[in-house]
Amino acid sequence: MASVRFKNVDKWFGKTQVLHDINLDIKESEFVVLVGPSGCGKSTTLRLLAGLEDISAGDIYINDKIVNLLEPQHRNIAMVFQNYALYPHKNVQENIIFGLKRAKASRDLIESRLDKASKMLQLQEFLQRKPAQLSGGQRQRVAMGRAIVRDADVFLFDEPLSNLDAKLRNQMRYEIRRIHREYQTTSVYVTHDQVEAMTLGDRVVVMKDGYIEQVGTPMELYLQPKNIFVATFIGAPSMNILDATLYPEYIELEGQKLPLATNLVKTSVPSDGQKVKFGIRPDFFQDEQLISAGEALTTLPNVHIDIIEPLGYDRELNLKLGHQTLKARLDLRSTAREGDTINLCFDMRRAHIFDIETEKNLTI
Ligand SMILES: Nc1ncnc2c1ncn2[C@@H]1O[C@H](COP(=O)(O)OP(=O)(O)OP(=O)(O)O)[C@@H](O)[C@H]1O
Ligand SMILES: [Mg+2]
Repeated sequence: MASVRFKNVDKWFGKTQVLHDINLDIKESEFVVLVGPSGCGKSTTLRLLAGLEDISAGDIYINDKIVNLLEPQHRNIAMVFQNYALYPHKNVQENIIFGLKRAKASRDLIESRLDKASKMLQLQEFLQRKPAQLSGGQRQRVAMGRAIVRDADVFLFDEPLSNLDAKLRNQMRYEIRRIHREYQTTSVYVTHDQVEAMTLGDRVVVMKDGYIEQVGTPMELYLQPKNIFVATFIGAPSMNILDATLYPEYIELEGQKLPLATNLVKTSVPSDGQKVKFGIRPDFFQDEQLISAGEALTTLPNVHIDIIEPLGYDRELNLKLGHQTLKARLDLRSTAREGDTINLCFDMRRAHIFDIETEKNLTI
């Protein structure tokens, strides 16, 4: 187990800077997920930590020791890649223990580690098979086994589940959580799947264009996004971002004046008819007809229902308010139909106001 620290780390490839002043403290045993759109620098961040690329400026620490110049094999890190790179001619068992054998571990140690890992990953019955005779999920588990027998200080995962179908992904996600609970190994996990990020991470790092936009627990990112990028990247369907005008006591949305909650009133912007963006998550809307009396909610009346997508328990409503479109996720009890209008209720304290220029959240 180890702590990891990035301090003012930059990375340039030739004349292009791909990481800008990365600062990140990862605690011992913590499971940290890096998430962000393609090309934002997630894999590069991992490869710097693994020692597969040199950093251009700053320092990386493992356990308070600067490792900038340490060779990858001396960093005691195990990495699981997207294409798990198993040896095709070796069977599962040989693949798993390859690293231990090369490190000249004792026979007893190899056997006990293999036994534990294969039980944990439910690979006992496949130990003699070759990778080609396994399903994608089984191969993925072998790659995981190879990492966990090594007893590394840090596990790095680079989109390890992206080749798998939805069902297997769920299953492997669950197994990764179990492995982490059992071994407590400090882990850095890269994905662009925000469901994986939210379900696996103790903390999540949202990246964009080589910058860290926000670091927080999944719920902090969901409830208190620092800017429009994080607000719309985390959570599905995305947060609604609507054009609005801000006044001292209320916000005007397509001609409707909605009183502000006290947490929103404190916004330190000149609020005298200033154009802003108003953010509210589809999950936070409710059908007015299903609200019990006494709930202090704000109503957005007469919203036109364009399309309804049934998703099982939830239904996603695609709505029109004046010239703007928005989404609401309502449960099965709502009887709203396409073509109707609906009065939507929400808790104004869960809404956000963003600056239209900086896109920063003015309410946190
Ligand atoms: N060896 C390299 N030489 C030059 N540019 C590179 C190299 N490796 C990565 N890059 C560039 O650095 C940026 C970050 O790449 P990186 O692989 O870290 O992104 P990523 O967030 O992992 O994306 P993805 O989700 O697509 O895997 C990209 O613009 C990429 O083109
Ligand atoms: Mg990548």
